[in-house]
Amino acid sequence: MVFEGAVFSAASFDKADFSPKVLTCIDQSGMIDRVISVDEPDFKSVKQTAANHNILHPIPNGSYLLPGFTDLHVHAPQWPQAGLALDRPLNEWLQTYTFPLEAKYENLDFARKTYKSLVHELLANGTTSVLYFGSTHVDANLILAKICAESGQRAFIGKVAMDNPDQTPDFYRDSSSKEALEQTEVFIQQLQQLQKKTSSELVPVITPRFVPSCTDETLQGLGKLARKYNLPIQSHCSESIWEDHYAIDRFHQRDAEVLDKFGLLTNKSVMAHGTQLQNSDLDLFKQRNTAIAHCPISNVYFGDSVLSTKHAHNKGVEVGMGTDLSGGYSPSIYRNMQQAIMSSQMLQDSGVKNSRISAVNAFYLATVGGANALSIPTGKIRAGYKADLQIVNDQYSNIMSNNANDIFERLIYHTTKNQINEVYVSGKQVINQGDNNGK
Ligand code: GUN
Ligand code: FE
Repeated sequence: MVFEGAVFSAASFDKADFSPKVLTCIDQSGMIDRVISVDEPDFKSVKQTAANHNILHPIPNGSYLLPGFTDLHVHAPQWPQAGLALDRPLNEWLQTYTFPLEAKYENLDFARKTYKSLVHELLANGTTSVLYFGSTHVDANLILAKICAESGQRAFIGKVAMDNPDQTPDFYRDSSSKEALEQTEVFIQQLQQLQKKTSSELVPVITPRFVPSCTDETLQGLGKLARKYNLPIQSHCSESIWEDHYAIDRFHQRDAEVLDKFGLLTNKSVMAHGTQLQNSDLDLFKQRNTAIAHCPISNVYFGDSVLSTKHAHNKGVEVGMGTDLSGGYSPSIYRNMQQAIMSSQMLQDSGVKNSRISAVNAFYLATVGGANALSIPTGKIRAGYKADLQIVNDQYSNIMSNNANDIFERLIYHTTKNQINEVYVSGKQVINQGDNNGK
């Protein structure tokens, strides 16, 4: 397939490239093969050949080709409560609302129904790669994986491990450390089989819920499993003042140090939130090449402060965006980019110098940042990258300025799923024009 039209793609943290008229050529394996600008000598002939083969796809005037987004932090089972009870403190929200909901995923019909809705919703919002927390249940997590495979979404999925009886309820807990580790290994093997069978882009992820939910044996064992299978790791780190104090009380160490001593901070780790990370923690993240999932909406409710993504980035720590459904209520990375920008402005106003980020910075985090965190060649519209793409309509082009910067900022601030007309993962169309417009 060959797309013809305008493209936005991040060049660096501070720069988004705009190409008003290029051919974006996708090869059979779903990679971007070439991006040909209008002044290259073979622009016309490539376009003509594509047209002759019926594979030329013109992007309409006023629409733009963007990379698909990576969402680094989604709690899949929490989708049915997106937006609910966010006025409660984190621990109460977990115990009273979230754990009872996640426990319901023993019921596979319930799992199927909600996971179908969630995966569709994320794709429809332009999110092409997702790092998911599942629930504790292997079978429900495999249903999520199958739905991702059928829908064409690239998915990194973890069976949640949580076995600490002090911090988890009787009705929703791995019954022992042995069970948490065995079930994690069963899930890894079954997901790898499913991946092979379906040739889809599915990766199992080691997933200690967070330090408070897990016993020492489980944290230790999960670190070992991550090494044995060479897998990504996800958890929460220093999300709240409560979580930070908990680590100090139990281990006399900081949350990041606890994760590190159990082998859970690696170059394949993605830690959510990090609002309370100190410079020493950021140095440790940098040393281990561990990434942060920035979840700006959720952080408003549970984070007790704003993470300075600029500071983390300047310290050389990888940062990408996460919705944290349902600690964050919105499945849209656009909505989260907007919040990231607004929260950073408030952080700056509160006296933290050089913390404000721009729309360009947020776009970099949502595309390149997330891709780097997961070490996947996506997030840029450039040869050698996966063809994870979205075609987005600028709804106000008739009445507002049309220079490239203005269009770009408008897209970041005003795109909802109604303006996302098509979405592709590895060159395969996963959302059609009309899906998002109720047609
Ligand atoms: N910490 C442990 N579990 C969770 C969760 O489900 N959501 C959030 N936001 N933080 C957590
Ligand atoms: Fe979370």
